[in-house]
Amino acid sequence: MTKIFVDKNLKIGTVKHELFGSFIEHLGRAVYEGIYEPNHKSSNKDGFREDVINLIKELNISTVRYPGGNFVSGYHFEDGIGPKEKRPVRLDMAWQTIEDNSFGTDEFMKWAKHAKVVPMMAVNLGTGTPLDAARLVEYCNFPKGTKLSDYRIKNGGIDPYNIKYWCLGNEMDGPWQISSLSAEDYAKKALITARMMKLVDPNIKLIAAGSSSPEMPTYPKWDRTILEELYEEIDYISMHRYYAHDSSLNDFYASYQDMDDFIKTIKSTINYVKTYKRSKKDVKISFDEYNIWYIKEAKLGNWQKAPHLIEDNYSMKDALVFSGLLNTLLNNVDVVEMASLAQLVNVIAPILTQKDGMAIRQTLFYPFKNAANNTVDGKVLKPIITGPKFNSKYGDVNYVSSSIINNEKEKEITVFLTNYHKNEMELDLEIRSFGKLTPIYHEILNSNDIENKNTFEKPNLVVPKESDLPTIKDNKVLLNLKPETYHMLKFKYEGI
Ligand code: AHR
Repeated sequence: MTKIFVDKNLKIGTVKHELFGSFIEHLGRAVYEGIYEPNHKSSNKDGFREDVINLIKELNISTVRYPGGNFVSGYHFEDGIGPKEKRPVRLDMAWQTIEDNSFGTDEFMKWAKHAKVVPMMAVNLGTGTPLDAARLVEYCNFPKGTKLSDYRIKNGGIDPYNIKYWCLGNEMDGPWQISSLSAEDYAKKALITARMMKLVDPNIKLIAAGSSSPEMPTYPKWDRTILEELYEEIDYISMHRYYAHDSSLNDFYASYQDMDDFIKTIKSTINYVKTYKRSKKDVKISFDEYNIWYIKEAKLGNWQKAPHLIEDNYSMKDALVFSGLLNTLLNNVDVVEMASLAQLVNVIAPILTQKDGMAIRQTLFYPFKNAANNTVDGKVLKPIITGPKFNSKYGDVNYVSSSIINNEKEKEITVFLTNYHKNEMELDLEIRSFGKLTPIYHEILNSNDIENKNTFEKPNLVVPKESDLPTIKDNKVLLNLKPETYHMLKFKYEGI
């Protein structure tokens, strides 16, 4: 049996909508044939696929990071603005793809407005200079009267875009990155860039590139160096982490614990640097790339335009792991303020599209949709868990992963539970200090085979179903969690 209790007064923090961001990179078919396909039957006059936008709205996505990713480290935004017929065709060296630049900054901004998402722009700190980055801020955010701002107006951006979130490069610790740097060199370049960008627009929020994975040999010294050099200039440090079922299933199921350990280490590093700097300011975490990623050969694009790259098709098992990652993000909202599911369409994504055809929901779609639609502005309560554990390369881990959110306005509690056990798990959930609880909703995601996936042939093989409401005895919620299942439960309460 697993026992969980939470108390109304044991709060971790408040969920911001920015926790449910995502990411569109010029990679494979994320842009072309993903969000942008002028000849698709659902596309509007700007070539934006409305079927995809509808799914994005269903996910309640907040921010969308753009244009990369590894791509950004070789990208020069001037190539993607102005009359389309004059835009150069370039080699994208990051993914060995042909980039015709028919979609660039202005198209992205138009798309973001139409899709009702908040742009999160990344600047090129690989082959780009601090001046290039400051010029991009000027192009986007300066009202008018300069060459660049007037050019934006000419290109259709009458009002300044006022982009708030800016990433200072991408994964600059990774040898795969075009022009990767040592921590010291990155910190120096990022510092000059940050200052120049803020001279152009002091209202922007900056995200420094943290370790691209805890498996990097430079982790966590990289993060300490970056924070020491940039602490007063930045608002967030980024974290990236991908998982795959590449060793035992236990190891894969334990991913949520590893993500938690990673966050706790960066949180301690932030606290160390804050104290060392005698700073009054709190730098937060932007977990701006996380997901399950199998196609690791990352077959490069063979110099094609929009090739099929890293189009992982996710199973029920992947959805179980993914839901645990969401619980971990929620259980760390005191420090993780923003996150971006990498990515949004086709490339390691919750949405898959066919050229000229359908757009479908992958298994991961459902836990993300539930979290993004049921937790924003709620208070995450600290779950105290006792129960059986399984062994993994990350240590001993609870079979049940959970997160519990109190929506004070609606007097509603949302509970997410994932049972990683091969057998049914008896659950005893005590939600203290709320008075009488009434269960109002229970949804379950499972499948008779954890390898089942949604495909274009069977797009609804793995979909959530409404399930029986749990019993409440002595104000304790009693429930038997079926083997390898994901659950969302909702309760109303009467107390204050
Ligand atoms: O999301 C795919 C790639 O993963 C991104 O381009 C890069 O930042 C990371 O390594």
